[in-house]
Amino acid sequence: MTSDGAHAGKPLDQSLDQKVIDGQSGYSKPFLTLYDLVVYRGTAPLLWRCPPAVSRKLYDSSVGARHMDIGVGTGYLLHHAKFPVPDPRITLVDLNRNSLAHTAHRLRRHQVDTVRANILEPLPVAPRSHDSVGMSYLLHCVPGSLREKGIALAHAAAVVKPGGIVFGTTVLSAGVPVSGRARRAMRSLNKRGAFHNDADSLDDLRAQLDLHFDRHELTVHGCVGVFRAWTAA
Ligand SMILES: C[S@@+](CC[C@H](N)C(=O)[O-])C[C@H]1O[C@@H](n2cnc3c(N)ncnc32)[C@H](O)[C@@H]1O
Repeated sequence: MTSDGAHAGKPLDQSLDQKVIDGQSGYSKPFLTLYDLVVYRGTAPLLWRCPPAVSRKLYDSSVGARHMDIGVGTGYLLHHAKFPVPDPRITLVDLNRNSLAHTAHRLRRHQVDTVRANILEPLPVAPRSHDSVGMSYLLHCVPGSLREKGIALAHAAAVVKPGGIVFGTTVLSAGVPVSGRARRAMRSLNKRGAFHNDADSLDDLRAQLDLHFDRHELTVHGCVGVFRAWTAA
């Protein structure tokens, strides 16, 4: 199934703020062919100091039989994830059509649905329908302070079953160790609109996880916040 969402009766593209558009517009077809190398061999381990093994372990320990991934990029982590069943059902959610198409093709061995949606709006998906939701390296692409874009966590929480898990990672700029090189890279990415994390702190992330979930675990690897959060059973 493929769904190209609408919001409040308007076609999705007409409801988007320019900063939201900027946060996903870099994911062109040519960039997606380089993405795994650039992110998982480059920026994540070298700048943000979060090796891919951390993200792979997060996925292996968190994905459920009916999984939703929001902000899918190339589907690198889903492609490598160890699912608890041989035939998982996977819903891919992204604002960018290239990311959705690239990931759906990569995961074609599984049963995959795609939904084009902006995570700042409620998801056009049945509530309490999934076991798990992954949001890897998504929130730092989304505009607003964590107090504002934390609503994305509420939208993810709404689609997991009672006791279900929402997990992910995000690059933070405060309350975590940020090297000089990482700080310069973040400044440039924020200036271009590819990142929106210049006000994102560890304390604000923790407060949003507290607000939207029954309980959570939050750890830091380099300047990346890594979270697992559960709705009430
Ligand atoms: C940095 S990539 C992360 C890809 C993948 N999850 C990973 O960890 O490698 C961010 C993804 O989020 C998507 N994205 C950015 N803003 C979004 C929004 N407001 N709503 C939904 N998806 C968004 C982009 O199109 C892109 O596919």
